[in-house]
Amino acid sequence: MPTVDNPTEKTLAELGLSEPQAVIEEFTKIRERFDRQIALPADEIRKLMLQEAWLGSESDPATSLRNFWVGRKRGVLAQINDNWLKQAQPELKPVVGAELNRLRAHIEAGLEQKRLSIEESEQERVLARERVDLSLPGVIRPVGSHHLIRQVFQEIEDIFVSIGFSVVEGPEIETPYYNFEALNIPEFHPVRDDMDTFYLELPKGAPEPLLLRTHTSPMQIRTMEKRQPPVRVIVPGKVYRRDNPDATHSFIFHQVEGLAVDSDITFCDFTGTIEYFVKQFFGPGVKTRFRPSYFPFTEPSVEFDVSCIFCGGSGTAAGGGTCSKCKGAGWIELFGAGMVDPAVYGFVNYDAKKVSGFAFGMGIDRLAMLRYGIDDIQVFFQNDVRFLRQFP
Ligand code: FA5
Repeated sequence: MPTVDNPTEKTLAELGLSEPQAVIEEFTKIRERFDRQIALPADEIRKLMLQEAWLGSESDPATSLRNFWVGRKRGVLAQINDNWLKQAQPELKPVVGAELNRLRAHIEAGLEQKRLSIEESEQERVLARERVDLSLPGVIRPVGSHHLIRQVFQEIEDIFVSIGFSVVEGPEIETPYYNFEALNIPEFHPVRDDMDTFYLELPKGAPEPLLLRTHTSPMQIRTMEKRQPPVRVIVPGKVYRRDNPDATHSFIFHQVEGLAVDSDITFCDFTGTIEYFVKQFFGPGVKTRFRPSYFPFTEPSVEFDVSCIFCGGSGTAAGGGTCSKCKGAGWIELFGAGMVDPAVYGFVNYDAKKVSGFAFGMGIDRLAMLRYGIDDIQVFFQNDVRFLRQFP
């Protein structure tokens, strides 16, 4: 209810207004009062409405102000209608009626204008709050990169694919048959000692033991079982051995196996392929050599060396001392390889008289170390971003 000194709660007679001019002046005062209120900012209107005990549960000041003035039952205009117009002397009624209409039109127009301006400023506030500042820096999401080992895999794959090899992958959990026996390594062969490795704990009654593969060579067998010659594949993957970790050994490391079998593959094809790969990977300046070696599944078997990329094959470090990388030899051992032993063809039903081929198995971690001058294999597995960031 309007409370503060409100003339509209009284009749005109109670106010002592009997002349039209006096009535017009009273209407003018009320209009001025409205004009003062409507000019107030929203916060002030809210305060005023609270003070007038008008706001009640209504929290929107514009609506409160409207109710205060034009509310059907208790609004100022309703009071003027009830207390002034209806109670007026007949001779005053026309002037009261006319003034009331003018006042109503004035108030309606003022309220509408106020509503629009409040709405507008509210919108401006919302827009200001939601405005996107394009000059602010965005959220930077760090982009990862391939691990160096993955990059080296990719590079090796590209080189071999370019000369007709395809890429296959195989299981990391193997049976002893594929990991050893079919590669011509029977149960008590001394070569197994080097590779005696991680066997899986299996439930009693499991049909056969399983182990983490010690090399990628089992994929030679799996591939030849599935495909008839000509076969040209490389097999990138992880392998596991019970080796003590040091600067060049890890119990998990990576290999790329290679296998080429056809009707007329010679040792020359083998050396040519390997030399081509090494020159592509390390650059044309690198020298290569083969040394005799032994693997049960290749005959003859070789170790393949490259001239030391750190000392240029001289064996002498830049400072004058012995090259620490090749220990003064001028050569670094890269991997084992050889012509596929005819005994292996027997395990895959190839006719050893009609086919020949070569195979190799490279240690990728060591290849990467040589190529990038990394002196500790362990950094590949430590996931230290300071190391990884150097190979984006
Ligand atoms: C083999 O694993 C044979 N399967 C390779 C092969 C394939 C020969 C086909 C003939 C025909 P070897 O045990 O030498 O061979 O391992 C091959 C390479 O793996 C090594 O030259 C070396 O670069 C790497 N290597 C071996 N043990 C580790 C280890 N613990 N940590 C890191 N790299 C290793």
